[in-house]
Amino acid sequence: MTEQRRKVSLTGIKPTGEKADPATGGSMHFGNYLGAVRPALALVERFDSLYFIADYHALTTQRDPEALRDNVYDLTAGWMACGLDPQQTLLYRQSDVIEVFELTWILACITATGQLERGHAYKDAQSKRDSPNAGIFNYPLLMAADILLYDCDVVPIGADQKQHLELARDLAIRLNHLYGDGTVVVPEPLLSEAPVVPGHDGRKMSKSYGNTIPLFAPEKALRKHFMKFTSDSTPLEEPKQAEGALVYELYKVVASEDQARAMVDKLAAGGYGWGHAKQDLFDAVNAQLAPLRERYLELRADEPALDRVLADGAERARVIAQRTIGRVRAAVGID
Ligand code: ADP
Ligand code: TRP
Repeated sequence: MTEQRRKVSLTGIKPTGEKADPATGGSMHFGNYLGAVRPALALVERFDSLYFIADYHALTTQRDPEALRDNVYDLTAGWMACGLDPQQTLLYRQSDVIEVFELTWILACITATGQLERGHAYKDAQSKRDSPNAGIFNYPLLMAADILLYDCDVVPIGADQKQHLELARDLAIRLNHLYGDGTVVVPEPLLSEAPVVPGHDGRKMSKSYGNTIPLFAPEKALRKHFMKFTSDSTPLEEPKQAEGALVYELYKVVASEDQARAMVDKLAAGGYGWGHAKQDLFDAVNAQLAPLRERYLELRADEPALDRVLADGAERARVIAQRTIGRVRAAVGID
């Protein structure tokens, strides 16, 4: 009996944003960690996983070469510090596998422009400026190629990426219909159930709102960030409602069930203020992040070692990519 192939999971991580200083906590934020990194790393037990740094995607908005280069290192070190083991997960940089552009073109030739015109990200960009660049227009095609190039079965994504994944699926089905079943694997989305992490102001924690908490911020700065969370002004001695309060909602995500229940009880009993709750929240977060922070600083300080990790990943990724592109080229008649 032939052994069944383990399912493959693939996802892309965009190295966007300004150049971030490792000493103040790097470019990843606490929302990224709870919303994307932790859930993605939980999947590596169940799937053969491929995680890549989507630097060509970042180029649709990034104009600072130094920041782009720097962010690639930062994410490589950051994900590894959070527990990504490059022996277990294939970690690579998108731009190291240029076969992705061959597939992008082949996919472009079977995509109706109308489908790209309906893209949420493109329409959003259009509403903000007159003429978004063609990279933004073609972004979903490059993303579809990222996915189909690696024969992956599932793509863990947040709700904002659903439409992109639908296009990738559509194109896979169309390619197989035109050129024969098995030309590419049709991927399934794996929709994230991770919570949306709020910032101190109650809005989604996001670089675009300037309310992020750098994931590897030094302890003192981290504490300051958590102390900034808004809360109501119920006096210290009065009972307080945990449900719906920002500090408690976040505590629930990071603490154990017992710890969360204890906070509910303490708030309900009175004599325990939001300042205490914030301190408990900070303690819980800091206990989890302190070892990651240490590891991040070590990894981030050794760029040649990070280069080696990415070079090794690129080599292994290219083997898969070349196999797929060979099959697709032959199918379309370019061989
Ligand atoms: P930002 O909004 O700060 O620019 P990104 O778009 O770079 O963040 O997000 C990278 C990943 O982290 C995405 O998968 C996204 O869904 C996730 N993410 C970002 N912010 C949050 C948040 N506040 N809560 C949960 N997940 C988040
Ligand atoms: N578009 C994704 C984002 O904005 C990043 C990405 C690029 C991606 N290629 C991908 C995600 C392939 C999943 C699969 O976050």
